[in-house]
Amino acid sequence: MKALVLSGGSGTRLRPFSYSMPKQLIPIVNKPVLEHALENITALGVTDIGIIVGDWGPEIAAVLGDGSRFGARLTYLRQDRPLGLAHCVRLARPFLGDDDFVMYLGDNMLPQGIGEIAEEFRGERPAARIVVCKVPDPQAFGVAELDAEGTVLRLVEKPQQPRSDLAMIGVYFFTPAVHEAVAAIRPSARGELEITDAIQWLVTHGADVTAAEYAGYWKDTGRAEDVLECNRWLLGSIAPRVEGDVDAASELVGPVVVGPGARVVRSRITGPAIIGAGTLVEDSRIGPATSIGDHCVLRSTRVAGSIVMAGAAVSQVPALVDSLIGRGATIGPAGRGAAHHRLVIGDHSRVEVAA
Ligand code: DAU
Repeated sequence: MKALVLSGGSGTRLRPFSYSMPKQLIPIVNKPVLEHALENITALGVTDIGIIVGDWGPEIAAVLGDGSRFGARLTYLRQDRPLGLAHCVRLARPFLGDDDFVMYLGDNMLPQGIGEIAEEFRGERPAARIVVCKVPDPQAFGVAELDAEGTVLRLVEKPQQPRSDLAMIGVYFFTPAVHEAVAAIRPSARGELEITDAIQWLVTHGADVTAAEYAGYWKDTGRAEDVLECNRWLLGSIAPRVEGDVDAASELVGPVVVGPGARVVRSRITGPAIIGAGTLVEDSRIGPATSIGDHCVLRSTRVAGSIVMAGAAVSQVPALVDSLIGRGATIGPAGRGAAHHRLVIGDHSRVEVAA
């Protein structure tokens, strides 16, 4: 079996981050979403992995390399424009050949893995095996309608009037039967070749399409709120580890990771929390549910429920909560006695100040 990881697309819902980085590289517990995905795939024993990339291909390749770090062999497949998930399968045909494959959306997080579903697929080899999850807002997803036995009756991409609350999540298993389907479908109203339509084509043509309801935690990290929620969830199971320096005037409470070369000075870190390598935390209170990236500087600051990405500097901010701070961003005081805020922020940024 091979794997096809989809890491192109535009990520407009994650602005402003998607202006400067692909959404699949957003760190969750200090590791890019895409790396979490690759770990789930190699855990299946699948090592031949194709990655669809768009304009951010070079940035993604700089982080993942040839895949040897994950025990995998990566083949980068360039998609010039995000023409849809089924378009990705079309363009990956030479890479996929006639092998079975798992298709994995590079912005989806399934921290409890997909081993069981892969086993079921390998045992039965239906034309397609989809994975579904109950959601409160099915109109934001591909929606599956199943009968009482779990047979797939109908699939619709982002329906206005969903007929079920089962969203298709970002993992699909296919035999080569899918290639005829992706070749047969036409672009949807939004101009994309939808994988949902290709799977519906298989259903209509009598192919065996089965669905598994995912019992574990799943998140499409499409929006900032989802990223923060997922970070909070994943931090819930970190094992404490202190590799950097924590001075005698500091206190670590609950599960806390302090990366190599990090320094914690006169501060209190309440877990679950992770402090990245080479980061300085001074006179601050961090956590809970907070990930601070590598080489950040936090001084006289309180941060909770947040992600601060690599190289950011935050000083004298009394209460930063549920925030997503980009790489190399600087937040600090406006100068002595200043009674105003001064902002230099990029397009589509969001700032909420305490009134
Ligand atoms: O997260 C689950 C949902 O993912 C499913 O319920 C939907 O049926 C499915 O269409 C998809 O919907 P999204 O709107 O969330 O897809 P998005 O545009 O975010 O793309 C998913 C991933 O695939 C993302 O990592 C970007 C990548 N992609 C997307 C397109 C359209 C590509 O690599 N190429 C593309 O052309």
